[in-house]
Amino acid sequence: MGIKIAIIGLGYVGLPLARLFATKYPVIGFDIHKQRIEGLRSGTDSTLEVEDEVLQAVLSDTPEMETGLYCSYDLEDIRDCNYYIVTVPTPVDKNNRPDLTPLYKSSETVGKVLQQNDIVIYESTVYPGVTEEECVPILEKVSGLKFNVDFFAGYSPERINPGDKEHTVEKILKVTAGSTPEIGEKVNDLYKSVITAGTHLAPTIKVAEAAKVIENSQRDINIAFVNELAKIFNCMDIDTNDVLEAAGTKWNFLPFKPGLVGGHCIGVDPYYLAQRAQEFGYHPEIILAGRRLNDSMGEYVASQIVKLMIKKDISINGAKLLMLGITFKENCPDVRNTKIVDVIKALKDYGIEITIYDPWASPEEVTHEYKLVTTKTLPTAQFDTIVLGVAHKSFLNLDFDILKKENSVLYDVKGILKCPVDGKL
Ligand SMILES: NC(=O)c1ccc[n+]([C@@H]2O[C@H](COP(=O)([O-])OP(=O)(O)OC[C@H]3O[C@@H](n4cnc5c(N)ncnc54)[C@H](O)[C@@H]3O)[C@@H](O)[C@H]2O)c1
Repeated sequence: MGIKIAIIGLGYVGLPLARLFATKYPVIGFDIHKQRIEGLRSGTDSTLEVEDEVLQAVLSDTPEMETGLYCSYDLEDIRDCNYYIVTVPTPVDKNNRPDLTPLYKSSETVGKVLQQNDIVIYESTVYPGVTEEECVPILEKVSGLKFNVDFFAGYSPERINPGDKEHTVEKILKVTAGSTPEIGEKVNDLYKSVITAGTHLAPTIKVAEAAKVIENSQRDINIAFVNELAKIFNCMDIDTNDVLEAAGTKWNFLPFKPGLVGGHCIGVDPYYLAQRAQEFGYHPEIILAGRRLNDSMGEYVASQIVKLMIKKDISINGAKLLMLGITFKENCPDVRNTKIVDVIKALKDYGIEITIYDPWASPEEVTHEYKLVTTKTLPTAQFDTIVLGVAHKSFLNLDFDILKKENSVLYDVKGILKCPVDGKL
């Protein structure tokens, strides 16, 4: 029998991957979220990662096909697959501890249909050891099969960047690994057949797991460093961007910018590594210091805005503020773990009234996640303060003069506006 792939979890990671594999193999895209499956079957991706025509070109209306993508929430449809690729979320709980529930549940699902010689590859970002020590025992228990005898495992972390139309899945070199050297080769060959940028076969699953989690931890720490610089230079009345531009002329100075670190990956993954280190009795210093610093930035931005308003004699309690953007990053609809809500919460604590405008974010999702009201229509009122929170391209052309009162504050979190502003990070 040839290769038949099941992708478990059709979100930001799973769908682009399923679409890519479907150009060459029969692929069943499986998700527990019925609405998501129905949306995809109708040929639309609500995450906007895969364009409608590109999705529709691979969609199949039957699970029996030579190549193509059939989307389903019915377990029976994945029973005859021989490669299972798991792309479910790996969030943290309210105490920032890894929450492996989706991985446990999806491993149970796969365990129910697992057969002799099948390979289960995990793509979700985890700490080293999750695949073999947390997921494989569930696969063994539910299937009754023996690991590395009857079935095998692999790990291949995803590196895509939501909203990035340049670095799409096939154009990013992919790290692969298998539970034995032979399976490593098989997993690597599978990815090599569709990833044009090539693959890197890591020696073990734990190495591949560790590699992914440190990529994002490194970014988090580097951003924390420039955020700390921004706090220092703001005290000294020095423009941080000017400093970074000057220092950036040295060949080995790294080009990081200050900002709010939100989203599903960079602000979350370091906690996975930290938790695992602590289980071994090692208490990470730099990793957690970076997290603390980045998590403090929402409140810091709010305090900077309030100081600017006071300096302009704007009465704080009841002031009207327009927040431009609520997604966790620019030009994408993803609102998960957005740090703009930290800024909003801190500003509300000062009694400021906030209108949130974001043409990308779904107002229903924002209300569901954060109990906040957003609009996709640019308000016509005039505001005491305007905060450019997210650097969506469309915001760069806004006419701020129409939106602000005569005496007002314009704050540019990312420092991207060309027009004069009162403050930036
Ligand atoms: N979003 C990114 O840019 C990105 C980049 C690299 C790595 N990752 C990692 O990839 C993983 C997936 O992230 P995502 O952004 O695609 O998440 P997502 O929330 O967009 O998608 C996950 C999908 O899995 C489904 N799901 C949840 N539990 C399930 C289960 N038991 N069975 C079947 N389906 C289930 C959900 O309904 C959802 O559609 C995470 O570990 C994340 O850290 C994400």
